[in-house]
Amino acid sequence: MSVLVTGGAGYIGSHVVRLLQQRGTEVVVVDDLSNGRVERVGGAAVVEVDLGTDAAVPALERAFTEHGVDAVVHFAARKQVGESVARPARYWSQNVGGTANLLQAMETAGVGKLVFSSSAATYGAPDSPVVREDGPAEPINPYGQTKLVGEWMTRAAGTAWGLRAANLRYFNVAGAGWDDLGDSAVMNLIPIVFSALDAGQAPAVFGDDYPTPDGTCIRDYVHVLDLAQAHLAALDHLATDERPYDTFNVGTGAGASVLEVLAEVRAVTGVDVDPVVHARRAGDPPQLVADVERITSTLGWSATKDLHDIVTSAWEAWRR
Ligand code: WQD
Repeated sequence: MSVLVTGGAGYIGSHVVRLLQQRGTEVVVVDDLSNGRVERVGGAAVVEVDLGTDAAVPALERAFTEHGVDAVVHFAARKQVGESVARPARYWSQNVGGTANLLQAMETAGVGKLVFSSSAATYGAPDSPVVREDGPAEPINPYGQTKLVGEWMTRAAGTAWGLRAANLRYFNVAGAGWDDLGDSAVMNLIPIVFSALDAGQAPAVFGDDYPTPDGTCIRDYVHVLDLAQAHLAALDHLATDERPYDTFNVGTGAGASVLEVLAEVRAVTGVDVDPVVHARRAGDPPQLVADVERITSTLGWSATKDLHDIVTSAWEAWRR
């Protein structure tokens, strides 16, 4: 039995690849290497192909057969919210088109289990302090829309040909499980702050007039190694006969404000982080925190690491 990981050379994907290898599972990585790096996959076979292209379907079918693939973890996607607003067609083509190609190849090859990378961006700007999987999902940008459509696609494949799927809605992923697998893209709050500190610049806080205790936005920061473990729990769950289709929040259930994250960065780095408050960033919900009851009770997974672990590990990887 082997597992095919799309986007396995990327930040989150490479953590899952390493955990699978550590438990003795053969892994095949499919990646276009646009952001991924081959050094991250620990000797796994790599099929270099862009899932959004016509070449993807035959390449996947070949990989499924050659490696006796039994399950897929599907990370490969574009994931920048701002870019998705500016270039929506690219997101529809890459994220939705890529998932369609993958599902077509899985059906043809008879590969029947899938863990799909979804996102808290599917919730949009919710009213509730914590969000549940059975609550409203009203994404407010094309990125979140493509992830919600991806969930619909996995469900439809289940109805049509019996795919068993787990959609994992990631909250704010950060940290590093190993120093060589840190997030090298500077797209999210913690790497952005590190990058500002390196440049001797003041980090930006986007808005301090939100209806939260300190006025800054609250998010649910989850350690990438905890998140990676959730994928293994989902794969194990799909191997049983229970619930063939499900969607799970992957967060800690606890929120931290932007100022609380900056305070943790100050404590960990020893650098005096003196932020500058900017205007609110368009489309930011005041608070987005996971209700984690479903993943805890169904998969037996819960986060083991806190904000201190996240910032410490992210900083060590960043320094490297
Ligand atoms: C976190 C908080 C910012 C930068 C995004 C996607 C989401 C998911 C995770 C993939 C916000 C504030 C940020 C800065 C700041 N991705 N901030 N100064 O927007 O919560 O979530 O990444 O699935 O779908 O939307 O993450 O890291 O950009 O921001 O004050 O320089 O930090 O306003 O409140 P976000 P983020």
